[in-house]
Parts: sequence; structure tokens; C-alpha cells
Amino acid sequence: MTIHNPVPPVPFAGAATLVIGGGRNIGREVAREFARRGARLAVADLDLEGAEEAAALIREAGGEAVALPCDVSSDASVKATVASAEAALGPLAILMNNAGILSGGNPEDIPVAAWQQMMDINFFGMVRAIEAVLPGMIARRRGHVVNTASFAGLYPFATSRMHYAASKAAVVSLSENLAVYGMDHGVRVSCLCPGPVMTTSVLGMKHWSENYTMRAPGSHLTVKSQEETARILADGMEAGRIIVPTHDEVWDTLRERAASPDAYVIKKHGEFASGDSGKPAVPAEFLANKP
Ligand SMILES: NC(=O)c1ccc[n+]([C@@H]2O[C@H](COP(=O)([O-])OP(=O)(O)OC[C@H]3O[C@@H](n4cnc5c(N)ncnc54)[C@H](O)[C@@H]3O)[C@@H](O)[C@H]2O)c1
Repeated sequence: MTIHNPVPPVPFAGAATLVIGGGRNIGREVAREFARRGARLAVADLDLEGAEEAAALIREAGGEAVALPCDVSSDASVKATVASAEAALGPLAILMNNAGILSGGNPEDIPVAAWQQMMDINFFGMVRAIEAVLPGMIARRRGHVVNTASFAGLYPFATSRMHYAASKAAVVSLSENLAVYGMDHGVRVSCLCPGPVMTTSVLGMKHWSENYTMRAPGSHLTVKSQEETARILADGMEAGRIIVPTHDEVWDTLRERAASPDAYVIKKHGEFASGDSGKPAVPAEFLANKP
């Protein structure tokens, strides 16, 4: 798909880049991929040790990277992280908001406080970072903001984690609207929408219900690697893409859903009722170290 994004690109080469939630898995691989393409990195995470490991891997490969602590649920922490990143690298050219949490359960078992925490980290965490970085990008008329959403934010299937799905739908809306706004201000926006990607995020996740079935985005999909995900994102950013899904099959799903959103919801129920929970195929090479 060719996109003619009216905002000039922010080349990776030399770009001062902050990846929040870069300590492990997708965020770490994205930071490494950006660095391979020449970006200068600040890798921030609640897990400072993970961020330090990521930064060390980048430096070992000949890149430039610092590690920073960040708790996206705190205004003060996010502001301090952005200030430290800019002190180390100069004005930020690329901001990636990748921090996220996950828990599961039936909607009636998930406490309101857990819905609020989900929104506070997965959505307001991005709002906090954007508030800290956007004024500078607008003043310089240069920047690229990347937010990580999910297929769960694009179409209905995640009945086993609705608070997560709602937070990611909010991320998609924020990203698309910010992309429109950014076009008048020289700021590009991309929204990484991962489908199933092999990570350790489900390990130790909180379950609010005793018996429930995890619903996945579709049995027609195949789990992707973190490395491929990172390449798809970086290629998409270079191509001026706004919505960047990891799996192209999602465009057919979105077309089908747009033709009749009601029929899509009913079809999804029928799939689940017939025992198809939407689990993707797992390539053999992942099975050995599947989380
Ligand atoms: N793995 C998948 O299949 C998949 C699918 C769809 C969307 N996603 C999204 O992609 C992103 C990365 O997923 P992942 O599988 O690598 O997950 P992950 O849990 O391994 O990574 C999330 C990172 O965010 C950090 N984090 C959590 N809370 C934080 C906070 N308060 N402040 C700062 N950092 C915090 C974690 O320490 C971790 O490094 C997430 O936003 C996730 O929702 C993943």
C-alpha cells in the first residue's frame, strides 16, 4: 500500500529517539532495530535493569544508547524521563510509547480499579509522554510519535480482556486524530498494531476470573517474531504509514467488519460458540521456547 504522507519523514540516521517500554520483548527489539537504522536511543522502562540490558545490546552492536527509569503512570516520572533523554541526546525526533500491561478475565469479575489502572498505563501513559514531547516537536516542525496499540483495539474479539481492548481502541483513536493534527505541525504519527507476536507478556499475567477462555484475534493468523515486528514498524515509519499492523490479513478483517459491524459481532460470537477461540498458528521454531 503506497501512502503519500504530507509530513516530511524523520530519517532514523542520527535521530534522537526515546522508546518508553523498551526494556524487553517488542520494545527492546524495536529500539535495536531503530538503532540498526542509525537512531540514537534512550531506552526507558519501569524495569530499569531491562532497559540497561537493551541499551547495552545496542552499544555492543556499535550504536548509541542510554537507559532511563520511567513509570508511565506518573506525570513527574514521565517528565523526568523526557528531560533526561533530551539532556543525553538533544531534542527528541522520535518518541515511541510502547509501555503496556495485560490482565484477563470476564468483564463482571474485573474491578473498576483494574479498568482504571489499565487505562492509566496503556492510554494515559502515552498522553503524558505526548504532552511532554509534542510542544518541542511542533516548535521544531519535526518529529515522529509512535504508539503501540493492538489488534484488540481494531476489531472485537478480546472478550477475555475488555479493559485491555478498550485501552488499545483509545490508543488507535488518539493516534489517528494526532496524525491528522500533526499534519499541520510537521509531526508524523504511526500506530503499531500488533497481532499475535511471540513475547513473554502473558507470563505472570493477572487473571480476574477462575474459569474463562482466552480469546485471540483469529485462527487464520500466524504468530510473528519480535524481530519481524520491529522491521515491519521501522519500514512502515519510513514509508509514512500511520496504522502499521504486523499482519496484512487485518485489512480483510477490517473491510468485512466495515461492511456490517453488527454482522461481524454476531459472526464472532458464532465462532466462539463453535469452539474456535481464535488462537493463531505458532510456527515450529517458536514452539521450543514458547512462553
Ligand atoms: N505480544 C503481543 O502479541 C502483543 C499483541 C498486541 C499488542 N501488544 C502490545 O505491544 C506492547 C509490547 O508488548 P510485549 O508483548 O512486548 O509486552 P511486555 O509486557 O513484554 O512489554 C511491556 C513493557 O512495558 C513496560 N511497562 C509496564 N508498565 C510500565 C510502566 N508503568 N511504566 C513504564 N514501563 C512499563 C514493561 O516493563 C515491559 O518492558 C504492549 O503495549 C502490548 O500491549 C503486544
